[in-house]
Amino acid sequence: MQTVSATTLYERLGSHDGIARITRELIKNHLSNPLVKTRYENIKDLERVEQRVVEFFCAGAGGPESYSGQDMLATHRGMNVSEQEFITVIDDAMDALEKCGVEPSTRTEVLAILWSLKSDVIRV
Ligand code: HEM
Repeated sequence: MQTVSATTLYERLGSHDGIARITRELIKNHLSNPLVKTRYENIKDLERVEQRVVEFFCAGAGGPESYSGQDMLATHRGMNVSEQEFITVIDDAMDALEKCGVEPSTRTEVLAILWSLKSDVIRV
């Protein structure tokens, strides 16, 4: 029989502290990934962007935080992000989730959410 999880995605990601830890791992991954590292090395205020990414994930996963950044289209407009970079960033996210002990079914849920944003990020 299929069981339905009663906990929200936010809770399954470890709430604010869990998501902050996942985001830290995510950025570490980006900075050591030759396919995208220069994109992140060139960010002027990486700490501010990291905070925004934490807020974005928290709010998107159903947490009480509000997101104070720009929407995905406005954020990535003009960057000419490629399909390969998009997949790489998602791979880095999946790896960060695994390192932080997030279970496979929850990782798949996050994968679907990130994938759904592709038309707001790739070559916009
Ligand atoms: C689904 C995938 C993605 C999500 C959810 C996402 C999310 C975000 C968020 C929330 C911000 C902060 C916005 C702000 O400060 O207002 C951001 C900034 C940024 N993203 Fe993405 N992003 C994605 C994919 C990518 C890809 C593929 C690249 C390129 C490799 C990229 C490069 C950047 C850069 C360079 C910034 C910093 C912009 C600045 O200097 O302020 N992102 N992203």
